[in-house]
Amino acid sequence: MEKIPYTNTSIYFDDSFSSLVKYIDLDFSNIFLIVDSIIYDLNPKKFYEYKNILVVESVEDSKSLTYLDTLIDKLLLLGCNRSSFIVGVGGGVISDITGFVASIYMRGVRFGFVPTTLLSITDASIGGKNGVNFKGIKNIIGTINEPEFLLIDFSFLKTLSDFELSNGYSEIIKHACISSNKLFSMLEKAEIAYKKNSFKEILKDSIKIKISVINNDLNEKNSRKLLNFGHTFGHAIEAKYKISHGEAISLGIILATNISIKFGYLNDNSAITRIINLLNKFNLPTDIKCYDKESLLYYITKDKKSKGKYIDFVVLNNIGDAEVKSILIDKILDE
Ligand SMILES: NC(=O)c1ccc[n+]([C@@H]2O[C@H](COP(=O)([O-])OP(=O)(O)OC[C@H]3O[C@@H](n4cnc5c(N)ncnc54)[C@H](O)[C@@H]3O)[C@@H](O)[C@H]2O)c1
Repeated sequence: MEKIPYTNTSIYFDDSFSSLVKYIDLDFSNIFLIVDSIIYDLNPKKFYEYKNILVVESVEDSKSLTYLDTLIDKLLLLGCNRSSFIVGVGGGVISDITGFVASIYMRGVRFGFVPTTLLSITDASIGGKNGVNFKGIKNIIGTINEPEFLLIDFSFLKTLSDFELSNGYSEIIKHACISSNKLFSMLEKAEIAYKKNSFKEILKDSIKIKISVINNDLNEKNSRKLLNFGHTFGHAIEAKYKISHGEAISLGIILATNISIKFGYLNDNSAITRIINLLNKFNLPTDIKCYDKESLLYYITKDKKSKGKYIDFVVLNNIGDAEVKSILIDKILDE
């Protein structure tokens, strides 16, 4: 196990799930696990000792106020109180719900995550953003509240499908695009398989990029917005076309890169080809022809990043170098 330094959350990298109780230091009866249903079915023995387990299906519909009602009801029935500890074990759906419910239940209960997808390890479980969807708009209700710890146990990843592995790579590629030419080159040379030696190094680099961006700007006043690269269109595509987060972000990265070129920020002609090749290498979609920008307008104007007619849009100056620009929404759509 290696502890990745981070001010607000202890990150136990390459640890074992069996260490969980040690980090919480409470009796099993006071620990409440919110567990992805697939993870629970695949690893029943890991959960034997736990008394309070809420099994949740990881679908976007679980990220709703209606479903939170059910969850809060169960927590009350099981006797979860202000001295309890809630742990989310699963992917981004589970960490989003767990972080939100733990933040509002009894005005806040201690919580941590055991991320089990690549996407949640490298992105969703880091940084304290949590929340649910409302009327089809992604993550529009939530809080910023960081977990006490992340316990990353790679044995969970053995059962992750190739599709979900690819989804995770979209956020890793995003981190490389906004902040590290070195990570981008490592990814160009790497193999997709999760067992390869380079895999953990790539993950560690990706996590460190996210941490360093957040450390500079916890409340998303400024530099943290860089993490939204590819997400303005990505979230809109995800909401409208009901495709996976990773696929939508991949398409959002292409659209944002094209806009960076058209607005004159990105002048290196080889960059878009390298980005397309890298996304394709990890089996992520890059063909944006069937995604009409105009029809995504509704979702873009409802985006948390929009301010009336303007939106904070992340543009690339180069691979590894991005910045936030306030851009007229109409102008983006004209391009
Ligand atoms: N809060 C944030 O900062 C943030 C950032 C990025 C994404 N998100 C959110 O995260 C969600 C996507 O997260 P995700 O991609 O992890 O998806 P997910 O949580 O839906 O998991 C994807 C699928 O993999 C299954 N699964 C999970 N772990 C598994 C394992 N080890 N083996 C086999 N199957 C496993 C799940 O049951 C599910 O079917 C979206 O709702 C997105 O909005 C949040």
